Amino acid sequence: MIRDLSGKVAVITGGGSGIGRGIALTFAREGMVVAVADIQSDAAAAVATEINDAGGSAFAVTADVTSVDSLAAAAQEVENRSGAVNLLCANAGVLRIASLDQHTIEDWEYTLSVNVLGVVKTVQAFLPQLRQNAPDAHIVNTASLGGLVSVEGFPIGAYTASKYACVGFSEMLRGELAPEGIGVSVLCPGVVESKLAQTSSENRPASFGEHRAPEADGALAGAERATITAPQAMPAEDVGPIVIRAVRENRLHVLTHPQSRPLVARRFEALMADFDFAEADG
Ligand SMILES: NC(=O)c1ccc[n+]([C@@H]2O[C@H](COP(=O)([O-])OP(=O)(O)OC[C@H]3O[C@@H](n4cnc5c(N)ncnc54)[C@H](O)[C@@H]3O)[C@@H](O)[C@H]2O)c1
Repeated sequence: MIRDLSGKVAVITGGGSGIGRGIALTFAREGMVVAVADIQSDAAAAVATEINDAGGSAFAVTADVTSVDSLAAAAQEVENRSGAVNLLCANAGVLRIASLDQHTIEDWEYTLSVNVLGVVKTVQAFLPQLRQNAPDAHIVNTASLGGLVSVEGFPIGAYTASKYACVGFSEMLRGELAPEGIGVSVLCPGVVESKLAQTSSENRPASFGEHRAPEADGALAGAERATITAPQAMPAEDVGPIVIRAVRENRLHVLTHPQSRPLVARRFEALMADFDFAEADG
């Protein structure tokens, strides 16, 4: 468990934008050395420059979380430049908004390769360094509120399945790493200002087929943009302090939107009702 962050080393995938950038800025203000990792090298470099210009300590690393080789190179570069990592944020993610009918197999493969296997590969790449620093070591995987509940009328099927998987992986990982003194948290934000719609399209390799905007599928004009700029969206920079508080206390689920509690309560009430049904005599 890490209580004193000052001087410790953090790496954040997807650090070039949105939530990852906000976390990077907050960690730097705590005195951490921050490795900003992103598939978009320019975005990562811009965030590192922003931190250094403000008197912090950061550097940029190019990393594609779908590639074991890219992550191995990034992990080596981070260790060479700053020493072994204490705090890993596996945060990079992508979003596809469309009904399941409109999800292609390539949509599924791309979403799962970044949001699920990308997190698994990132953890595997950095775990040896975290082990060197245990018990001053912690992992934060970014899932989503959509990894705890599925919201009717908001068609993000592959994304929801991927984030449920991220929550499950994180919960298992926490149990397995606890004896080594390495903490694990899973960040489950509600709607946060970001460029998720834009970057999900920009970063999609041709091998996964084209990213189709929801408009292209008819029913959802503007929905993808709306999720990211919705009036209730939390500023991305507000997420970092919540993450820090949770890391210091080694909380499992890091929740950013307490107003969403009824959604989760309803899910578990429905589950209990199904247990009641199973117990009842036919
Ligand atoms: N914005 C929200 O409302 C919201 C809510 C819940 C969860 N999340 C999750 O937060 C995380 C961060 O997303 P965001 O909303 O800040 O979006 P964002 O697009 O602003 O940031 C995502 C970053 O990830 C990078 N990225 C994408 N694919 C990558 C890859 N293969 N390798 C390395 N980097 C890659 C992008 O270049 C981008 O810089 C994601 O996992 C997302 O699912 C976002």
